[in-house]
Amino acid sequence: MCGIIGYVGNRSAKLEILEGLKMLEYRGYDSAGICCFEKGELKLIKKKGKVDALKYACNEQLKDAHCGIGHTRWATHGNPSDKNAHPFLSENNSVAIVHNGIIENFEMLKGNLQKQGVRFRSETDSEVIAQLLQKSKCESELKKVQELFSKLSGSFAIAILFKGLENQIFAIKKNSPLIVGKSKDGFYLSSDVNALVDKTTEYRIMEENEIVWIDNQDCYVFDANLQAKEITYTPMNLTKEDISIGAFEHYMHKEIMQVPTAIKLTINECEPMVNPYTKLPKEILKDLKHITIIGCGTAFNAGMTAQHYARERDLIVDCVYASEYRYRKFLSQDNEICVFISQSGETADTIEALKIAKSHNIPCIVITNVATSTINKLADYVIPTKAGPEIAVASTKAYNAQITALFALIDYIYCLKNKINCRTCILKDKLYDVVKKLENYSFNNIDELAEILKDTERVFFIGRGVDYATSQEASLKLKEISNIHSESLYTGELKHGTLALIDHSTVVIVISTQKNLFDKTMNSIYEIKARGAKVVLVTQFEVESDAIDMIIKIPCTDQMLMAEISIYPLQMLAYKTAVLKGLDPDKPRNLAKSVTVE
Ligand code: M6R
Repeated sequence: MCGIIGYVGNRSAKLEILEGLKMLEYRGYDSAGICCFEKGELKLIKKKGKVDALKYACNEQLKDAHCGIGHTRWATHGNPSDKNAHPFLSENNSVAIVHNGIIENFEMLKGNLQKQGVRFRSETDSEVIAQLLQKSKCESELKKVQELFSKLSGSFAIAILFKGLENQIFAIKKNSPLIVGKSKDGFYLSSDVNALVDKTTEYRIMEENEIVWIDNQDCYVFDANLQAKEITYTPMNLTKEDISIGAFEHYMHKEIMQVPTAIKLTINECEPMVNPYTKLPKEILKDLKHITIIGCGTAFNAGMTAQHYARERDLIVDCVYASEYRYRKFLSQDNEICVFISQSGETADTIEALKIAKSHNIPCIVITNVATSTINKLADYVIPTKAGPEIAVASTKAYNAQITALFALIDYIYCLKNKINCRTCILKDKLYDVVKKLENYSFNNIDELAEILKDTERVFFIGRGVDYATSQEASLKLKEISNIHSESLYTGELKHGTLALIDHSTVVIVISTQKNLFDKTMNSIYEIKARGAKVVLVTQFEVESDAIDMIIKIPCTDQMLMAEISIYPLQMLAYKTAVLKGLDPDKPRNLAKSVTVE
């Protein structure tokens, strides 16, 4: 949700910032902007649209700049436009800022500033920051920056330039990520590590309520009371290859093809003899009565998949959207743990939900794909997924990695509760079979089905039990990137209302991987066909029926793990449909990868 970049050093600030913005673009792509020092002035260029539009607008300008800040926006307050794009200059052009987050008290602050005669140029919450800094009476810039902590409420990562302090950048952070990168050619600020790969050798994740002050020589870090802090950097371990698109046209395609590897690397991590399982609280897990899984979007759907797996292991799992968990009445349950799932580890709702669970002393396990993320720092216990950087907005390989980690966690808990020697190796062998099947899978019929879907207005995904969880994830994927209206529902629920929407123009994609439910599902297929819909069946079973228009045959593996396989062709289906519709699957309309605001 918005990407921030800053650079000061020997290299061209314009090039470093534009390259950084391109890497951060997945965080938001409504507009982009850059502000650099040029002959002592703050020179600002900003543009509605993607980073390429900004690059074009910059043209030959800012050639000699060595210090600046940039931003790529996902609009919250004020529509996507040139004037609402960041950076913002204060009224007299003496301060420039970029901001990621939401200033919750901006209306009050703006009103006060307007009463003092300050004129605003945008409709955003962020502009107040620049105006406040200009109006501040504090004697030094550092103190002006510190004062923001007491004035702003909400979440913010902010980078700031002050006219007169050429080649210096200030930054502060509260509830939004910000990272400092160090190289022999200068210092960087960035919303994530990806934008620093190949540019820096070391980085440091800013902690809550910190102030950073960088110039081309050094970096200084202070706490909110301006006490200087020691800095320890972490070596950069990502390579350009990890984050490059390679031979693929889109990141989403690359990431779908990486699903088998994501499962393999994650299950290796889940060996009970190694971290992180040894760190889990055995005493609590062995008497566990209730697991609450919390996440958003795809992460929530991974929880839903695991819920069924857990039930087969006699474990009761409740799945709650993080945005709901935050505000529902809290009821304490004995022997409960919470499991938070987040690919990015930066989703605001999930982080806030975690804080609530912690405030009630519930042990919190986090399953996340980004080791450097905010949620990692807050968690009591962390189980990493090893999907590698996921850049496309639509989550694919991270989903498979999340369910892999959840299966391993559930097996581990089951063994502890039943005093069985935990042999994750059994799960590992079964998952290796999944990996092998996925590696050899050829996506039969997917191109043909995508051709049909691209001209379809309404699609339903249905399934029973765990197949319903898969249908939810498949439906989310399709609607998210192809803009086709899609719904998922329990197969048995269709006739309780939604059947009214089924006619010749509808495509119903039925997922059926559970032997005991197959005949029941066939009954529903006949009912759907009788209403004229096109029926597509995703299954590993041999079936012939006039009621089915197309079968997406999937490989067979242990029935409990079929969810790892059944989603795979449907991820590809969403991708192919979006491409056929001429849409950019990596940057779907109105969305952003990392939802760091509420
Ligand atoms: O980074 P997170 O896993 O916390 O993100 C949660 C959702 O925002 C995310 O899964 C979203 O639903 C994806 N775009 C779905 O493809």
